[in-house]
Amino acid sequence: MRIGILGGGQLARMLGLGGIPIGAKFVTLDPAADACAAVVSEHITGNYGDISILERFASKVDVITYEFENVPAKSVKYLAEKKPVYPSPAALEVSCDRLKEKTLFRDLGIGTPNFSAVGNIYELKSAAREIGLPSVLKTRTLGYDGKGQAVLRAESDIEAAWERLGGVNCILEAFVPFTREISVIAVRSCTGEIIFYPVSENTHKNGILHKAVCTPDDPMQKAAEEYSRKLLEELDYVGVLALELFEANGKLLANEIAPRVHNTGHWSIEGANTSQFENHIRAVMGLPLGDTSPVEFSAMVNFIGEIPDASSVLSIKGAHFHDYGKEAKPGRKLGHATVRRPNKKFMLEGLNEVLALVN
Ligand SMILES: Nc1ncnc2c1ncn2[C@@H]1O[C@H](COP(=O)(O)OP(=O)(O)OP(=O)(O)O)[C@@H](O)[C@H]1O
Ligand SMILES: [Mg+2]
Repeated sequence: MRIGILGGGQLARMLGLGGIPIGAKFVTLDPAADACAAVVSEHITGNYGDISILERFASKVDVITYEFENVPAKSVKYLAEKKPVYPSPAALEVSCDRLKEKTLFRDLGIGTPNFSAVGNIYELKSAAREIGLPSVLKTRTLGYDGKGQAVLRAESDIEAAWERLGGVNCILEAFVPFTREISVIAVRSCTGEIIFYPVSENTHKNGILHKAVCTPDDPMQKAAEEYSRKLLEELDYVGVLALELFEANGKLLANEIAPRVHNTGHWSIEGANTSQFENHIRAVMGLPLGDTSPVEFSAMVNFIGEIPDASSVLSIKGAHFHDYGKEAKPGRKLGHATVRRPNKKFMLEGLNEVLALVN
């Protein structure tokens, strides 16, 4: 089966690496000619809004998926008239707009920080009074890696934050003094079967994911699964869905969803019986899903802006090195390492050895 992927970055590359062994062939579409997924696909260089490019892309594939949520909705709808698109355009529409996303959480009874839509500076001032400070102002669309957001700590921050985000439609949400951040990765097949990976505990640095530690038997596993299941069923979802959560006062609050494979699930390549990438491809191909249970204990560290040399990572016992083959730039995700070891304590020691290479 030929699978079209919108986007040709590292997620598309790892989807390719996960799907090729089970018989998938890939076509990627990305504006960059040097997209790093091109090594696993027939790569088309072109814009997502170019109808003739979309036509060519659709004609080459049996089914379409995507590696990021900021693909123009119009283009995805156009493609969906030609070939099946998974996850559906409806799921994409919700997850690329923070207001729709948080409204869906609320409608489904999923806990989420208090929030309010903000369309101008007056609404922002009144929302700040209602929600209180500190709070976080986020653009409704196009945010990623902490971009498109500003923390408001004092009333005097309000105008500058509004200007800095460009005066676009936003939401203001309560700042959550969380004890930790976790995420759950789920997969739903086209027959409605749902399976979950063990949650991971995530740490960010400068708004970008720094490390993710898989926590089998996490006390919040069941609660995270319940939230995720509601979303998967409501959206009649097919594929991998990531749900990011805050834990505060022993409760979970949903932060956001990603309708795709997710950075906090990269550990599953070596750390689970079936990786999130293979399972996403299985789901979109209509194949049975694979076992998500963990193999030993694992954690992942992102390489951002610079990447250690392969030998320094690979000399650490149980470490696996992933170099995305991208040009180094500040703030860019260039690769990651996963450490997998037979017990938690020993794994955390290995994690520290990897962290020492990047800190
Ligand atoms: N309401 C909040 N309260 C406290 N911290 C927050 C809040 N919203 C976001 N953050 C912090 O900022 C990080 C990035 O926010 P968010 O996930 O909303 O944006 P993003 O740009 O989509 O990030 P990513 O692409 O890394 O998922 C969160 O993981 C969390 O650490
Ligand atoms: Mg996030």
